[in-house]
Amino acid sequence: MEKVFIFDTTLRDGEQSPGVSLNVKEKVAIAKQLARLGVDCIEAGFPFASPGDFEAVKAVAQSVEGPVIAGLARTNEADIERAWEALKYAQKPRIHTFIATSEIHMKYKLKKTPDEVLQEAVRAVKLAKSFTPDVEFSAEDAFRSDVKFLCEIFAAVIEAGATTINIPDTVGYATPWEFGAFIKAIKEGVPNIDRAVISVHCHNDLGLAVANSLAAVENGARQVEVTVNGIGERAGNASLEELVMALYTRRNYFQKNTNINTVEIYRTSKLVSNLTGMVIQPNKAVVGKNAFVHESGIHQDGVLKERQTYEIMNPAMIGITGNNLYLGKHSGRHAFKMHLKSLGYEVEGEALTKAFARFKELCDNKKVVTDEDLIALVDTETFKGPEVYQFSHIQISSGTNISSTATVGVIVDGQLKEKAAVAKGPVEASYQAINSIVEEDFVLKDYAIKSVTAGEDAQGEVVVQVIYNGRVFTGRGISVDIIEASARAYLNAINKALNMTKRTETIEKVEGM
Ligand code: KIV
Ligand code: ZN
Repeated sequence: MEKVFIFDTTLRDGEQSPGVSLNVKEKVAIAKQLARLGVDCIEAGFPFASPGDFEAVKAVAQSVEGPVIAGLARTNEADIERAWEALKYAQKPRIHTFIATSEIHMKYKLKKTPDEVLQEAVRAVKLAKSFTPDVEFSAEDAFRSDVKFLCEIFAAVIEAGATTINIPDTVGYATPWEFGAFIKAIKEGVPNIDRAVISVHCHNDLGLAVANSLAAVENGARQVEVTVNGIGERAGNASLEELVMALYTRRNYFQKNTNINTVEIYRTSKLVSNLTGMVIQPNKAVVGKNAFVHESGIHQDGVLKERQTYEIMNPAMIGITGNNLYLGKHSGRHAFKMHLKSLGYEVEGEALTKAFARFKELCDNKKVVTDEDLIALVDTETFKGPEVYQFSHIQISSGTNISSTATVGVIVDGQLKEKAAVAKGPVEASYQAINSIVEEDFVLKDYAIKSVTAGEDAQGEVVVQVIYNGRVFTGRGISVDIIEASARAYLNAINKALNMTKRTETIEKVEGM
């Protein structure tokens, strides 16, 4: 079977999801997990966009082995040079340069003629090629571009050294039949196409990103650009897990394979959801919590008699084992560390101490600690950036028809600060108490709560979005006490916001994104 390359852009296009801001540690953790998953290429970021993005791409390039590491760059010299500065540490670096090719983008956004765009694309590819042999060129908004012009520009960039040509449906407008025919036309219309890999990059505005990508594969595409859980701009990108499992489950039909180690899918999906704060809808294909749950009696009966009556995939294939953790409150630090290792976490030093302390607290409050609990806890504790404000304790008085009072203790510079506030509900009171400790303007934009597992003593997981200096930051907190989880989530978002600002991140308004 021919191979389809999986190009993961969770850390670049995925991170462009509203409210998602990952720190360097989190990005490296996701990149390492993507390498374990077996993706062929990791697009680690857009180095010119901000110092934070630059640092993240550089850190991934320095520490992740196996996949190609790509960085995005517009076609100007400064972008490409900056991308190379970050990527040069990678074993296998790729510069991914792009320019828009649709009439609407060229005329209104770029204010350039098609000929100017073509010349600029060729210049960019030549410059990128002077740094690395692996150069990808994307024609932004390709699907709404004139196919004849696209063939011309692709032929020219391949001549200039591009080794991958990427065909994005940037606004998610295509249908599978049209997109398949479009890829076929490009394959047939570019005379030197045999010197480059055809790639596609589909957005999900009409819910067709995976279907369009599959249609492209049927018509000659050999690289697909995807994100874990399908996160990304607006309605997101083609979802990695759906695309890979479609190719695998229907391999007799597609006759293609990938390098993906499917048993790492579930773990990767959880990690990305936990670190981005983007909750997975329960009915999400492949990784949603209901994806393998049979509710109706007829279905349950069928599955008990023969699994394949209603199941086309085995959950174990994507790494859902249903195993419970057999550690308890008497387990030692070493056993804890080794169990984390079996779940794919290498946790050491202070991070291990913190995670172990929270695990012990959890054992005191919950009868059965599952792997789900542990993963949620470790994802929350391990990848935190520096904590300007560290949660210490919370006390609440609340009830029906009375105001709520919250007293919150926070450690700042090694000193305990405590404040109390009164409000209509306990979450509001605790956030007001935190605001009076922090003395800065944070505005709560969104709040969501869910349980990590089933059961009355389950941990609550709270995800909040706060606005600070006009930007949205996501925070996450877990605890068996949901008001404590709420306070932890709020402080997590505040710390993220302050860390970003400290790095004097002047996220540029990047033209063309
Ligand atoms: O959607 C898009 O067109 C992109 C390109 C930059 C590849 O993300
Ligand atoms: Zn995109």
